[in-house]
Amino acid sequence: MTDIRTLGVIGAGQMGIGIAQVSAQAGYDVILSDIDLPRAEKGKANIAKLLARAVDKEKMTQSEADAVLARITPVGELAPLADAQFVIEAATEREEVKRAIFGNVGKLLGKDAILATNTSSIPITRLAQAAPDAERFIGVHFFNPVPVMVLVEIIRGLATTPEVVEAVEAYATRIGKTAVHAFDAPGFVVNRILLPMLNEAVFVLGEGVGSVIDIDQGCKLGLNHPMGPLTLLDFVGLDTALEILNVFLTTTGDPKYRPAPLLVKYVEAGWYGRKTGRGFYDYSGPEPVPTR
Ligand code: CAA
Ligand code: NAD
Repeated sequence: MTDIRTLGVIGAGQMGIGIAQVSAQAGYDVILSDIDLPRAEKGKANIAKLLARAVDKEKMTQSEADAVLARITPVGELAPLADAQFVIEAATEREEVKRAIFGNVGKLLGKDAILATNTSSIPITRLAQAAPDAERFIGVHFFNPVPVMVLVEIIRGLATTPEVVEAVEAYATRIGKTAVHAFDAPGFVVNRILLPMLNEAVFVLGEGVGSVIDIDQGCKLGLNHPMGPLTLLDFVGLDTALEILNVFLTTTGDPKYRPAPLLVKYVEAGWYGRKTGRGFYDYSGPEPVPTR
């Protein structure tokens, strides 16, 4: 089985930094890459803030936090990923972005290296066509926020070998996650169920059936969800949610996945949620304020 010592993470956004953090905490050396060095460094700085909070709460010692950070190397290009035995792509949810990354990183990886994608929705067999070796390509789908959420979905493409699945299962166990296996269909298991619910919440808002607060309080208190659906959409990123729904719609042709017009409008406005400071809530003040 592939002996994973160094992990490469492509994309230092909210998911990439979570994957880098939990992997470094488990003892892996991590190369964290993004489009340029400042973005990768900003990702590492965000990890440092979370670790500092864990130290303040006495969940980790300062020397443990320092050791975790020392295992993470931010880089602004793909070349250093040649040293990794396992690379997880966690870049923007756009098929053409991911395909270009696989083409470029594929030229660098050793023949035994495993390439994985954290895509939320795009079928693995389809993405594998852009990877250097479909047998060594796999989906490993984390949940946000990565340090807190225990699940990973493991999705094998048609050509993925059992040895690769086994290596990724061992990695998931070592970072303290519980894995479920999903068939290679758009959205796999969890997002296939979650996204239609989040989309429906935006239809409910757009039709004036309830306000942002009515919808979020309703689902929190009536369903015991930790976050209301509109808060969760802001947390996930409206741009990512819209991409996922469009993958469902175009891949299946089923109109039940039609994105809510208000979701499309918010994304057109650049209101992606927390990461841009505005979505269904405005995050510019000390507390989020509903925008409708
Ligand atoms: N990153 C890292 N850690 C975080 C965090 C973040 N963004 N937000 C909160 N945490 C940690 C806190 O540090 C805290 O840790 P400790 O217990 O060790 O102190 C813990 O989470 C609880 O945080 P809080 O007390 O501040 O807040 P909370 O109790 O309200 O929990 C939450 C926050 C865990 C995010 C909770 O609201 C929750 O579970 N929300 C739902 C999240 C969810 O559904 N995620 C899945 C999204 S879908 C997806 O990921 C798939 C996809 O492809 C789109
Ligand atoms: P994000 O917008 O926070 O981060 C994406 C990062 O990718 C950015 O830092 C961007 O600069 C970088 N990037 C874009 N093109 C790149 C390239 N060519 N090379 C290197 N880096 C590049 O997005 P995110 O929420 O972290 O999502 C990343 C992936 O994880 C997506 O595929 C998404 O569907 C998936 N995902 C997201 C969530 C979620 O809740 N947000 C949950 C599970 C999976």
